[in-house]
Amino acid sequence: MNLVVVSNRVARGMANEPMTGGLAAALLPVVEESGAIWVGSSGRVRDGAHKEPFAEIEALGAGALALLDLPAAHYGGYYEGFANSALWPALHSRTDLIRASREDYLSYREVNAFMARALMRFRKPETAFWIQDYHFLALGAELRDLGVSQPIGFFLHTPWPDRATVGAVPQHRELVTAMLAYDLIGFQTEHDCENFLSYVQSDLGLTVADGVVASRHGISRVAVFPIGIDPEKFAQQAAKAASHPDVSRLRRSLNGEKLAIGVDRLDYSKGLVNRINAFDRMWSLQPSLARTASLLQIATPSRGAIEAYGDLQSELARLVSDVNGRHGEVDWTPIRYLNKGFGQTVLAGLYRTAQVGVVTPLHDGMNLVAKEYVAAQNPADPGVLVLSKFAGAANELDAALLVNPHDIEGMARTIATALSMPLTERRMRWEEMMAKLRASTIQNWFADFVDALQESHADKEASVPL
Ligand code: F6P
Repeated sequence: MNLVVVSNRVARGMANEPMTGGLAAALLPVVEESGAIWVGSSGRVRDGAHKEPFAEIEALGAGALALLDLPAAHYGGYYEGFANSALWPALHSRTDLIRASREDYLSYREVNAFMARALMRFRKPETAFWIQDYHFLALGAELRDLGVSQPIGFFLHTPWPDRATVGAVPQHRELVTAMLAYDLIGFQTEHDCENFLSYVQSDLGLTVADGVVASRHGISRVAVFPIGIDPEKFAQQAAKAASHPDVSRLRRSLNGEKLAIGVDRLDYSKGLVNRINAFDRMWSLQPSLARTASLLQIATPSRGAIEAYGDLQSELARLVSDVNGRHGEVDWTPIRYLNKGFGQTVLAGLYRTAQVGVVTPLHDGMNLVAKEYVAAQNPADPGVLVLSKFAGAANELDAALLVNPHDIEGMARTIATALSMPLTERRMRWEEMMAKLRASTIQNWFADFVDALQESHADKEASVPL
C-alpha cells in the first residue's frame, strides 16, 4: 500500500527543532519508518499557489515530506479564522470564544479543496489517504468529489465535545455530513466517540449500529485509537540528554531544590492560569515548600494573532510576576517562566530532571507531554505525574495523581503530595504507567489505524449509500 498522510503542521526530522505540535512530533518517527508520504503546510503562503502548490518535496527516512504553500487569499480565514477561532474553541468546549464568520468558513473550505487538488499528484490505484485533525474535516469529501475511490481515513487529535457544543458552530451540519465521506473516523477516547455517534444519530437522524454510521456516502466506521509514543526511544533520549548544556545548567541552578515542570503551548485549553494559581495556593498553605520546590513552566507562544491567545499571554505574564513578587526571595524565584520552544532532546532531559510533571489541561485530546514525562524518568528514582482527569491520557495513566484542574485547592494539595512522595510509591506508580505506554506505542497506533482503514474501506465499498 502507498500511504499519504496529511496534516496542517509537519515536523522536519530535527530532534533539536522546537516542537510546538504534539501531532507533528508524534507522527515523525512512524512516517520515517513506514515510508509514507507526509503532506502539510510549508508555513508560507503564496498568491497563485494553485499553479504549482508544492514548495518542496524531500526525503524523510524511508518516506517523503511534501510541503505546500497555501493560498495567500484564504490562509488567514482558514488557520486563524475558522480552524482556530471557531473549531478549536468548540472542540475544547469554549463556546464563549467561538468567532465564526461565513467568510472564514468559505476560506476553510477553499483550503480543504485546494489540498484535495494538490493531493491528486500522489494518487495511484493502491494509494490510501490518512487525514489528520480539525484543519481538514472536509478534505475527505473534497477528495471524493474529485473521484477518489481509494481508502480515506481521518483521525481527530483533539476532543470531540457533546452535541450542544458541536451545535454552536454555525456550519456543524455541513461539516459533520462531509466527515461521513471518510471510511474510518478515529478518536482519542471512548467519550469522544460516543459524543460523535450521539450527534450523528440525534442531529443528523442517521442510523448507527456497532460504531458504524450509514449515510449517503455508504458506511463509515467510527472507532477509538488512543495515540501513543515510543517510550523506549524517548527514555534513551532522556538519559542521553542529561549531559546537554541546557539540562546541566538547569541541574546546577537547583542547589538541591525540587523541581516541578510544565510544558505546554500557550493555549487556554491547557489550564495554565489555574495551574499557576494552584502553585500560589500551595506556597501560601505550606510556606515550608518555599525555597525547597519551584516550578519551571515552558509556555510556547502559539497562534499569537488571535485575540484570545494575546489576552492569555498578557494575563499569564501578570500572574507569574505577581506570584513571584509575593513568594520570591532575593535568592529564590518560585516560577521560572519561559515563552519559547525547545527541541525534543532538551525537553526529554528537562523532564528527567524534574521530580514532578504537571499536566493539567481543562480539556485535551490526549496530551503527549504526560506520556513523555513518564517515559523520560530514571527508573531508579522516578518522578511523579500530576495529571488532569480531563486529558485523554488519564484513561491510560490512571496511576498518575489525577486532579480536577478547576479545583485549585485540591491541585495545590496534590502537587505538595507529589513533591514528598516516597520512593516505593513513586516506583510502583511509574512502573504501572510505563507498562501502559509499552503496550500502546505510536507504532501500534499507526499500524492499527492503517489495518482498520483497509477493512473499513472494503466494508464501505460493499455497502449501499442511503
Ligand atoms: O491536536 C492539536 C494540534 O493539532 C496538535 O498538533 C498540537 O497540539 C497543536 O494542535 C498544534 O497547533 P498549531 O499547529 O496551531 O501550533
